[in-house]
Amino acid sequence: MDAMDHDSGELQEVSAAEIKSFFESAPPLKDGDEINKKLKEFVERNSSATAPRVVCVTSGGTTVPLEQQCVRFIDNFSSGHRGAASTEYFLKAGYSVIFLYRSGSCQPYCSSLPDDPLLECFDISDDSNIQVRQSHAEVVKRVISEHHAAVSGGYLLKLPFTTIFEYLQILRLVALSLSCLGPCAMFYLAAAVSDFYVPWETMTVHKIQSRSGPLDMRLAQAPKMLSVLRKEWAPVAFCISFKLETDSKILVEKADMALKKYDMHMVLANELSTRKEEVIVVSKSGKTVVRKDKAQPCVDVESPLIELVVDRHSTYIKHSGDGTETT
Ligand code: PMT
Repeated sequence: MDAMDHDSGELQEVSAAEIKSFFESAPPLKDGDEINKKLKEFVERNSSATAPRVVCVTSGGTTVPLEQQCVRFIDNFSSGHRGAASTEYFLKAGYSVIFLYRSGSCQPYCSSLPDDPLLECFDISDDSNIQVRQSHAEVVKRVISEHHAAVSGGYLLKLPFTTIFEYLQILRLVALSLSCLGPCAMFYLAAAVSDFYVPWETMTVHKIQSRSGPLDMRLAQAPKMLSVLRKEWAPVAFCISFKLETDSKILVEKADMALKKYDMHMVLANELSTRKEEVIVVSKSGKTVVRKDKAQPCVDVESPLIELVVDRHSTYIKHSGDGTETT
């Protein structure tokens, strides 16, 4: 079962009480202090730059546990490719990136590796030394050095999540810590976030037993945090949300509604089956279709997409403070 939005959930009005109750009842993050420490160091390091540009890229799907000691869960579809590829292009464009990703989903710099890199990339020689297989040597060397440069240089901070509780709590920590960067901070919300969930306090502790017959379960609506992000957590940051649909006829209309309702700077609309070829950028200034260049099969649609996003963000930063509408 997929907990991705279906109509009623996606343009909901969320009350302050609902948000408060979501966070108060969520199981506390196990490593909240550690995450805060990493964020503080990351923001300090990056805000000392002359023109700091920091983007939080969210990636992969959130899970909804059905039991507190979780055996079963509902998942949201997302491989994490969009977020991982976008992260690489943001880093290339000079941004520092907080990559908030679903554990086990696609990682930046790994798309050119085989699916099972450890087993397929390395050989053990007679003297038990591990060597990169000649056929993969060039790509492995490149991705290791690019990844290492980004992490050790302090430009890439990776924060994993699994459940919707973890995702929303970490997103809030990130947003509050980036608020000091004003318009130079950006949110690029590519994660597929559950629209329905089981509130922690109503969730059974132990594994649900099958002997009681068919499962009858009521899911609560997960509060959309987009308005809170815009209004309270990071009111000056540049915010981009996504709209995913399987029916192309309603895609742009839904993206338009989300743009207005959540006061986003841009909504990136994509259809499930063509998401790797085409993204429609919806903003106050109109709609632009960004397509993958078929003549260059190795270049992802994220390449022209991030170019456009960076360009719009630059304009936003330039005009911020003078009250000009730019997006
Ligand atoms: O990972 P890939 O396989 O490469 O696929 C990429 C993608 C299709 C997952 C990605 O491009 C995409 O569209 N991500 C958003 C999917 C989604 O959840 O869409 P939505 O229409 O349900 O939500 C719209 C926005 O609201 C999203 O930016 C989401 O972060 C946000 N949201 C959703 C639910 C919720 N409870 N709170 C939210 O803030």
